[in-house]
Amino acid sequence: MAEKKILVTGGAGYIGAHTVLALIKEGYQPVILDNFSRSDESLLKGLTKLIGRAPLLIKGDCTDTSVLRKIFEVHGQISGVMHFAALKSVGESVQIPLAYHQNNIQSLMSVLQVMKEYSVRDLIFSSSCTVYGEPDFIPVTESATFKRAESPYGATKQICERILEDVYKTGFRFLSLRYFNPIGAHPSALIGELPIGVPNNLVPFITQTAIGKRKQLVVFGNDYNTPDGSCIRDYIHVVDIAEAHVKALAHLHMTQSQTYLDAFNLGTGIGVSVLGLVKKFIEVTGVSLNYALGPRRHGDVEKTFADPTKANKLLGWKATRTIDQALLDAWGWEKALAAGHKS
Ligand code: WQD
Repeated sequence: MAEKKILVTGGAGYIGAHTVLALIKEGYQPVILDNFSRSDESLLKGLTKLIGRAPLLIKGDCTDTSVLRKIFEVHGQISGVMHFAALKSVGESVQIPLAYHQNNIQSLMSVLQVMKEYSVRDLIFSSSCTVYGEPDFIPVTESATFKRAESPYGATKQICERILEDVYKTGFRFLSLRYFNPIGAHPSALIGELPIGVPNNLVPFITQTAIGKRKQLVVFGNDYNTPDGSCIRDYIHVVDIAEAHVKALAHLHMTQSQTYLDAFNLGTGIGVSVLGLVKKFIEVTGVSLNYALGPRRHGDVEKTFADPTKANKLLGWKATRTIDQALLDAWGWEKALAAGHKS
């Protein structure tokens, strides 16, 4: 396959960087656009080591159409876009909702506007299981209704998917990939998750507590209607998520139709509780973990996990890595960070 240039917005972030690696392995030529507002340039060092050369990178903001136009001009023949760039913390979105709507909605609209100008029609959108809210039925299929989003972050993902639905018939082909809970890191421990400040998400909080950076993990609630009382989620290895993006792009490029819209759940189909994950982490790593039971976190969904059948069948993709591997890779990454190996 001739090298195909793919614009990857937010490509220096957690899932973006893992996807850039997967794209290169598949013979694509990713062009990263990142404003580094929520990512750290140190990930690029690890990515460079993994790729054997520095990835094509433009430091800029994808809400700015002039930045986007320059990229499409300079890097002609961009055959598609993967749009990761967004603010993505549920908790932070409650604190600064206007910034979330302005950034997450405007960035998509700017990208679509410039794609139209340069007749680029294929886009993979980084969505989230958050669009479903508390599902009525689990496992969750793509036909599940969008409940009212519990957070401004979730609302921006719902609004963006609605924009894609309203716009695709004007000459685009869109796939939304709804991630469940991405965890882990590349097994090389050269790239991984770099939460800024105190982690919102469970697994980085676990690994930072285990390494001694945090005093104690608090489990948010053990009085839910679940077997052990803690919330249930579908934790999926970030490399499985990255590989799904490559499969999704191939699916779009093979599609004959001029316009296309679809969405896929990216999960393992296995629900795991918070307490179950904590115990699994202790078991697979052999390290002790200081944790305590605490009150529920506002806005948390009680239980959700994916029905990944549609992605399995239509994308020819299936999550292959176990939660044990994901936890071991998350721990390997945390230890690499502690060793001063800012990748
Ligand atoms: C998981 C479980 C917490 C921290 C969010 C986004 C979703 C996706 C993944 C982008 C919950 C519990 C957590 C802690 C805890 N992001 N927890 N103690 O909220 O399921 O999903 O991140 O794609 O869109 O909504 O992930 O890791 O924050 O929480 O007990 O210190 O862990 O209550 O039950 P969440 P999470």
